[in-house]
Formats: sequence, structure tokens, C-alpha cells
Amino acid sequence: MIIEWIPGLSFPDWADIVQTAADAALLTEGITETCSVTVWLTDNPGIRQINKKTRSVDKATDVLSFPVLHLHPKATLKHSRSRMRAAYDDHLNAVMLGDMVMSAPMVNRQAAAFKRPIARELAYMTVHAVFHLMGYDHHTREDKREMRAMEEKALNRIGLGESGGPSDEELLALARSAMRRAYTPYSHFNVGAALKCADGRVYLGCNIENASYGLTNCAERTAVFKAVSDGATDFTVIAVAADAEAWPCGACRQVLNEFAPRIRVLVTWGDNHVNEAPLSELLPHSFSSGSLMDASEGLNNG
Ligand code: THU
Repeated sequence: MIIEWIPGLSFPDWADIVQTAADAALLTEGITETCSVTVWLTDNPGIRQINKKTRSVDKATDVLSFPVLHLHPKATLKHSRSRMRAAYDDHLNAVMLGDMVMSAPMVNRQAAAFKRPIARELAYMTVHAVFHLMGYDHHTREDKREMRAMEEKALNRIGLGESGGPSDEELLALARSAMRRAYTPYSHFNVGAALKCADGRVYLGCNIENASYGLTNCAERTAVFKAVSDGATDFTVIAVAADAEAWPCGACRQVLNEFAPRIRVLVTWGDNHVNEAPLSELLPHSFSSGSLMDASEGLNNG
């Protein structure tokens, strides 16, 4: 039923957009802990009823948020680590941030009114609600400006802002934040990657180790596989962060070469050291689908 309310977007699509946008808002705030937000999608009479019951406003609206954490009026989540810890749910293994309720017909109406894609509108409403859950509001002009700037930063991270994606510097910062999710009980060598697509979308990855050592997946390949499984293959830049200077390993170079032989590779380590090289320099005389074609042409001709 709910799925019908966002024409052109099937359930996995809208759920994916909401998840990605919520993640971007959290990362923009500098939160890398796993958080839980319950998302309710309803219609205009539904949101009107909730609005009336909870805020005594008898009117349909686009999105409502109900924070679990009651922060100091001037504080946001990044300043409130101890309250955040208190909201940690041991069963869910996540910090409970609260609920957001969205009116699906409002997503459509606003997308049409602002002439924006539905995906962008859905991401915007999600980001807006998640910042509310993290203690932001727009009561004063100053608060509104701050919240709007954070929303724009979050949307830029996923290629849905006005600027067409993060700058190199922002991408490096994203790679550093991705390091924090590395699963490295064996090497303790944390690596983070941030992969940028031509449309500005960014996919993050970390290294994921395994007791059977050879099954370890590098940060770069985690990011590439996340992107490709989401339908994104047009990569322009990858930023890789580690404690020491770490260029993509041979396997990762080969995987990057499959989709983006001209990708720029940025590495960062330690105290904001940065280095850069094009993949073509890191993997000269590479083997690619072109080589297979050359071989089959040789067979046909011979
Ligand atoms: N690693 C990466 O994530 N990317 C690379 O390009 C090189 C190595 C990880 C794999 C392993 O978890 C750890 O670094 C030590 O090899």
C-alpha cells in the first residue's frame, strides 16, 4: 500500500534513499556509532491526526520527528555523548534517536512544486527529520541557517545537494570517518575509503577482516562493491585513509580498473598528509575487458 504512495519508487528504492540520507546526516554531524531511527510513511489524514494528537496542530504537514533524546537547547548530538550513551539499546545494538513520520503524498507534492526529483525530496525530508532528532531546530534565523547548512552538507555527501558532490577535502574527511567502522581484530590496521561517482554520490567502505585471513575485504573494494550493487559504476575519485600511508593494494587497483581506469586516487594518513596519483599510473599495462576482446579478435582472425 505504502509503496503506491510514492509513484516511480519501489519499496527497496525509497527505503534505500531514506537509509542513505539518514546515514549522511549522521556522518555530517560526526556520528559514526550505529543509530536507530524508526521511519513511518503515512498519508495526509494520517500525518494530520498525528500532528493534532502530539502538537495540537490540526493540519497535514510533510514530516514530523519525535526525538528520544532531550538535549540542552543549545547542544546537538555531537556535544551530548553521555546522553547518547544513555540512549544505547543493548538489544538493538544501536543508539535510539527516535521516530520520524513522513507524508508520502507531501513528498510527491513538494517534489512537483519545487521541480525536484522525488528521490531528492525524500532525501531532504529524511535529512531534515534526522537533524531534528539530533537536536537541531529552526526557531530563530540563526538556528535555521545552521540547520540548513548542515542539511546541504549532508545532501552533498550523497550527490543530492546543489554543489554536485563533495570536494576532494570533504572526500578525504569522509574516508577518515569511514576508517572508524573498520573491522580489524587481527591486523588492527584500519582503512577507510570514500568513492565518488560522476553524479556526486559517495559510497563509503572500510576493511572487513575474517578469522580465515584470506577472506578479508579491503576498504576500497567494500566501497566499490557497495556502489556497483546500488547501480553506480561511473567513478571519478577515490579517497583512502589509514594511519600510515596506504595506497590501494593490487587487487583493489584491478577492481577499480574494471569500472574506472581513469579514476583519481587520493590517500591520506597521519596528520592530514595527502598524496594523489591517477590509477593509470598505479596500474600501468593493465588487464581489462579490452584485453579479452583483443584475444577473441585474434582467435577469429587466426
Ligand atoms: N587493506 C585495505 O583495506 N586496503 C588496502 O589497499 C591495503 C590493505 C587492509 C586489509 C587488511 O584488513 C589490513 O589492511 C592489513 O592488510
